[in-house]
Amino acid sequence: MFERVLLAVDGSDHALHAARTAADLARAMNSNEFRIVVAYDFIPPYLGEPNLQYAIDARIDDAKAIMKKAIEAVGQIPCEINTEMIEGSAAEAVLDVAVTRNSDVIVIGSRGLGTLAGLLLGSTSQKVVAHAPCPVLIVR
Ligand SMILES: Nc1ncnc2c1ncn2[C@@H]1O[C@H](COP(=O)(O)OP(=O)(O)OP(=O)(O)O)[C@@H](O)[C@H]1O
Ligand SMILES: [Mg+2]
Repeated sequence: MFERVLLAVDGSDHALHAARTAADLARAMNSNEFRIVVAYDFIPPYLGEPNLQYAIDARIDDAKAIMKKAIEAVGQIPCEINTEMIEGSAAEAVLDVAVTRNSDVIVIGSRGLGTLAGLLLGSTSQKVVAHAPCPVLIVR
């Protein structure tokens, strides 16, 4: 059970908390696949050069930094960590990977980087839990 774990992170403390829980799950379940997804925004080409290239480089650097922090939060687990950085909507990216990779469980935070006070569940979590092809663990 839960052999293939999919973790989604956005650089928030909520997501790092989810990363630690996903790692606990992988250790408890002796999982054999652990995948981390970071989705980053599409940059519209009408930005024009040189701003376009700066923006493209900056968001990839951001995604790499988010991934690095998540890998540190995961720590030692029984299998290798696979990483995917995907351009586009976070929920769509997570759902696509879950389908393609046949994930057994998706682990996400209840909230992310969003600033809307009082929101119990962010829009990414809502969409993922509504459309997921597998169980979803929403970490609080
Ligand atoms: N860009 C992303 N890439 C990967 N996972 C993400 C991304 N954005 C959010 N997530 C995952 O979804 C969880 C919940 O974030 P969500 O975006 O739903 O909440 P929010 O940012 O507080 O609200 P909203 O985005 O609706 O303003 C995060 O903790 C993370 O696990
Ligand atoms: Mg968000």
